[in-house]
Amino acid sequence: MTAELEQLTEAEARAELARLAELIAAANRAYHTLDTPEISDAEFDALKRRNLAIETRFPALKLADSPSDHVGAALADGFGKVAHAVRMLSLENAFDDSDITDFEERVRKYLGLKAGVAFTAEPKIDGLSLSLRYERGVLVQAATRGDGEVGENVTENARTIGDIPQLLTDAPDLLEVRGEVYMSHADFAALNQRQAAKGEKVFANPRNAAAGSLRQLDAGITAARPLRFFAYAWGALSAPLAATQFDAIARLKHMGFQTNPLTVLCTGPAEMLSHYADIEADRANLGYDIDGVVYKVNDLALQARLGFRSATPRWAIAHKFPAELAWTRLEAIDIQVGRTGALSPVARLIPVTVGGVVVSNATLHNEDYIAGRGAKGNPIREGRDIRIGDWVQIYRAGDVIPKIADVDLQRRPEFAQPFVFPQICPECGSVAHREPGDAVRRCTGGLICPAQAVERLKHFVSRGAFDIEGLGAKQVEMFFHDADLPVKTPADIFTLAARDEANGLKRLKNRDGFGETSAKKLFAAIEAKRSIPLDRLIFGLGIRHVGEAAASLLARHYSTWQAFEAAITHALPETPEWAELISIDGVGAVLAGSLVAAFQNGSERAAIDALVAELSVQPVLARAPVNSPVAGKTVVFTGTLEKMTRAEAKARAEALGAKVAGSVSAKTDLLVAGPGAGSKAKDAEKHGVTVIDEDGWLALIGQA
Ligand code: IVH
Repeated sequence: MTAELEQLTEAEARAELARLAELIAAANRAYHTLDTPEISDAEFDALKRRNLAIETRFPALKLADSPSDHVGAALADGFGKVAHAVRMLSLENAFDDSDITDFEERVRKYLGLKAGVAFTAEPKIDGLSLSLRYERGVLVQAATRGDGEVGENVTENARTIGDIPQLLTDAPDLLEVRGEVYMSHADFAALNQRQAAKGEKVFANPRNAAAGSLRQLDAGITAARPLRFFAYAWGALSAPLAATQFDAIARLKHMGFQTNPLTVLCTGPAEMLSHYADIEADRANLGYDIDGVVYKVNDLALQARLGFRSATPRWAIAHKFPAELAWTRLEAIDIQVGRTGALSPVARLIPVTVGGVVVSNATLHNEDYIAGRGAKGNPIREGRDIRIGDWVQIYRAGDVIPKIADVDLQRRPEFAQPFVFPQICPECGSVAHREPGDAVRRCTGGLICPAQAVERLKHFVSRGAFDIEGLGAKQVEMFFHDADLPVKTPADIFTLAARDEANGLKRLKNRDGFGETSAKKLFAAIEAKRSIPLDRLIFGLGIRHVGEAAASLLARHYSTWQAFEAAITHALPETPEWAELISIDGVGAVLAGSLVAAFQNGSERAAIDALVAELSVQPVLARAPVNSPVAGKTVVFTGTLEKMTRAEAKARAEALGAKVAGSVSAKTDLLVAGPGAGSKAKDAEKHGVTVIDEDGWLALIGQA
């Protein structure tokens, strides 16, 4: 019998902490090392909870190596965050052979090359990417991709993976190696068997198993899972690895990494496509999942010239394998109402395995899609509509939500009737209206619609918005329906702690699934977000058409909440405020209209004002000027450029903070004129604009 926490004396607490530490260590050993758990997960969690509760009451007694610091899943506190020194990008996808010939042509065109460019071709591993940071050859940090800018610190977990060297010989002082963590088919099958035997979760596919195993708060669990790693790229470096992609990968192999043996050099599209066909033919024998082939420009100097678009490199592309297909029966069509009121039809299916994943739901897009009509009223599926009871073909490509590709009219049951799309919101009964030209029917209930309100809240706490630790979609849903501590609007989140205080015995800490510590933590996490940068606030409002990029543009333009709020409130069409709003590069009339309408709507506006009253909104400064001699300058290129193409010149100039314009005016700072420059040179003279040639430009930007 353990004593009530409140009655423990200090001596008893000390003795119990020692006893708990031993019990937890023994349970960990049994589970992870011997793979024979002696107590149930629930018992294990109870031990850890008790341990933490005592430590919270007697902080001075906490042992130096307390089990609370080796966090177990039940007390999951999340991983630390890691800002990637070099962003982790994703890849542009290609599906057809013609996409690959186009890609090769684009690369050559960008570089202004007539001769062919060499590419590497290698399997695209279906796992999760990981960045490993080595300093002086020692592994110091491992991080997941996260949103590409900030990932999760999984260093301890990565250390348990045999393919990941802890020490490197012959490595640059700083080296970030990037690659894919994956699980082989055989290891996946054996793991699932063990999981099933223990009555634990079985994984849908090797990728999920790899992700679930790597992202364990208890590295001991990762250690017991058979993970592998292929290195295929790098981030920050103190010295180049080689002159080519192929040699750089060979160097990583020499350092001790596993690199994919099916990596080859190709001289052009014909060889790339033939290697793709070889890999596809061998796919089933590889022993691990791949979902395509990745091609990369081999010459690293050319890679550097090609650079990046916003989220993908210009020098690489992923050639995906065709989607997987399967037939099953459509049992029902449910209508889900989203954050902006969109009524989305969801197909409920008799579960079917598509490419190793059990699919029981698929998207049906919108009412036209169900009726067999495309966006412009054109027939799709030769006009065949989709009815409840039909046999339908499910299409699944990679990670995307499964879709219904086709319907089998031969097997259509006699009772099947054309689907009647609701004209009334199924969640709140408001009229669901479809604007001319819009494929989507929307509930007009706004915040009175519970579905819209709860989806807004989920968006509000999401990663790019307020990102409140411990308050995810699940918790938001719970609080939304909570009778004692309801959260109906974002402002309610910030009054949660005060309202909880007033609730006496019904307080959060006394509820199932919560305790003193987790309730405190939640309130602290909310408190931490009371101070919020303007761009996150604008995005968090969840206004239709105002995504993360637009929110950032708006925040940088107006800087403060006061300026933003005043401008949007007054920005009715034809006012100077409206003209200013749509003059922002990247803000169009549709976005502006949606934003202004939200601020004019009584209940929306009340919710925004109530929220802002709870917050301290941090101003956002205009983007820090890039430190380069051309930053902030307006540049025009004309005539023939010999060392780079126009596209490359423009991208490089913009990366250095310059604005590239198409014609010369009084606002132009610099005209870069190659041979054959015509009227623009004359315009430059007229406006007194400095004219330099291509070499002069390269010298100016330090790339001569
Ligand atoms: S290169 C800058 N090579 O695919 C580009 N990625 O869809 C760096 N992936 O996030 C990635 N196999 O997780 C590259 N051989 C391979 C890959 C590969 C799998 C993953 C990677 C990336 C995703 C993009």
